[in-house]
Amino acid sequence: MDRITEQKQKAAAEAVKHVRDNFIVGLGSGSTAALAIEALGRRIKTENLCIKSIPSSYQAFQLAVDCGIPITTLEEYPQIDVTIDGADQLTPELFLIKGGGAALAREKIVASASKLNVIIADQNKKAQHLGANNQFVPIEVIPFALTPIKHKLAELGAKPVIREVKGKLGPVITDNGNAVIDAYFGEIVNPTELAVKIKMLPGVAETGFFVNLTDIAYIGTDNGVEKIVSKKK
Ligand code: A5P
Repeated sequence: MDRITEQKQKAAAEAVKHVRDNFIVGLGSGSTAALAIEALGRRIKTENLCIKSIPSSYQAFQLAVDCGIPITTLEEYPQIDVTIDGADQLTPELFLIKGGGAALAREKIVASASKLNVIIADQNKKAQHLGANNQFVPIEVIPFALTPIKHKLAELGAKPVIREVKGKLGPVITDNGNAVIDAYFGEIVNPTELAVKIKMLPGVAETGFFVNLTDIAYIGTDNGVEKIVSKKK
């Protein structure tokens, strides 16, 4: 296993300790969240843990099925006990950028329905400010609005790039049938304000800014796991 995967693995192992018997668990998307889903599957087998899960994407759904984790819905359980998810970037205040896997809208819906939100990441995801290191902000857009939104994001100071699929020509289509614009802003001074401005643009389904949603982050390092607890929530 490579160094970064080991860091992700350590963070995932800490996060799944928050899951207890009879919990409803939100399942995040991406390679780090996948390690937590696998760890939960192992706990179900070894401890007879009884849980139900709400996956945030097709990827998470499929993996949960493969790992023997029962699935439920927000219709049955509109309140989730704990959600475990990854991040593309996180700051010491636990402001996040998510959506590298284009699952941002469902991830945010699941996070908003959760009593506890736990984020897991490797060390490379840490930054002092969102947008540092050329990190883009994924924005899910209703296809009809794609070009106007591109222009409006440019007016807000971004370099907007429509995300293209690999292995097929054309734009990425999310699990909700929308497109994704990756907006390069550079370092973002006030993510809360920018998130509201973008969300207000008609045609924007969701932004990859996750502000004041996270309770705890576990960041895997070479020597262990760093824990950051939110002061604001
Ligand atoms: C999926 O849309 C994302 O929000 C992921 O959680 C994020 O991109 C982190 O993915 P990795 O764990 O694969 O880096």
